[in-house]
Amino acid sequence: MSESAYAQAAESANHIHDLLPEKLRNPHVGIVCGSGLGGLAGMLDQELLFELGYKGIPHFPHSTVVGHAGKFVFGLLGEKKTPVVVMVGRVHYFEGHSIQKVTFPMRVMKLLGIHTVIVTNAAGGLNNEFSVGDIMVLNDHINFPGLAGQNPLRGPNEEEFGTRFPNLSEAYDLSLRKQIHLSYKKLQLTSEKRKLHEGVYVFVSGPSFETRAECRFLRALGADVVGMSTVPEIVVARHCGIRVLAMSLVTNRAVLEPGPRGDSPIVEGIDEEGLRDILGAGAANHEEVLETGAAAAKDLQGLVRQFIDDIAP
Ligand code: 6GU
Repeated sequence: MSESAYAQAAESANHIHDLLPEKLRNPHVGIVCGSGLGGLAGMLDQELLFELGYKGIPHFPHSTVVGHAGKFVFGLLGEKKTPVVVMVGRVHYFEGHSIQKVTFPMRVMKLLGIHTVIVTNAAGGLNNEFSVGDIMVLNDHINFPGLAGQNPLRGPNEEEFGTRFPNLSEAYDLSLRKQIHLSYKKLQLTSEKRKLHEGVYVFVSGPSFETRAECRFLRALGADVVGMSTVPEIVVARHCGIRVLAMSLVTNRAVLEPGPRGDSPIVEGIDEEGLRDILGAGAANHEEVLETGAAAAKDLQGLVRQFIDDIAP
């Protein structure tokens, strides 16, 4: 007989627990770092750190993305030295893992004792008012694969974690959202340069990016950003009662404008350079994205640290 997901998560959590130094054994908050946001681990108190690669943890999924091996970093964050567990790197559904494998680490963190999780990701902006480098606090999501059957809770309910039919209408904790806006103001990131929005994240499976028509479709559904992670983890976190704050870093703007038509008079007489100009219009400049990405990642990491101090008892 195969072990229940609960038994597997308990085995992983016990394995980790036994390796942890005494002072890091009871993390209060879990932090999941999105692409390019792993620098958060560098903000932990460097005196007392414990790193543990996912490889070797029983039942853990292995990332297939190059440079995304992934590890837990246990440590103390901020002035108040809050014990946290940071996930540097996560596995994605598009890598080929089942949706249950992708969300397994969230259940392990639950059994390690976290009560709150902060999930971050890099996402494409669909809302016209969002600029590259802006941050969006999720206040809702659209679980696109989930609605069609790829829900991590599909299958026998794991009663030890939660109820059969969890309510997700208040998935994104209002008091945590209120607090992140306050923490953001405190840091005075409130420049025209980096806005803090609230909005809806739509999860798609990837790995190909959306076509222009798909971007318009997702926007019409009510999504503000689009990405390939986060939502399955949040479904599982809410099922087992973890409080959730989630944020997207807008790393690029999804292209919603229809492309040039082959029968358009503009395209008929155009040379190659001109065509490249039209096709490139609206697509983000790669260097710009990387530059903005690095600076924005720093700001987002600083915001997480401030927030952790602000919610500490
Ligand atoms: Cl434009 N789409 C998706 N699916 N994921 C992304 C993205 C876009 N930009 C960053 N991550």
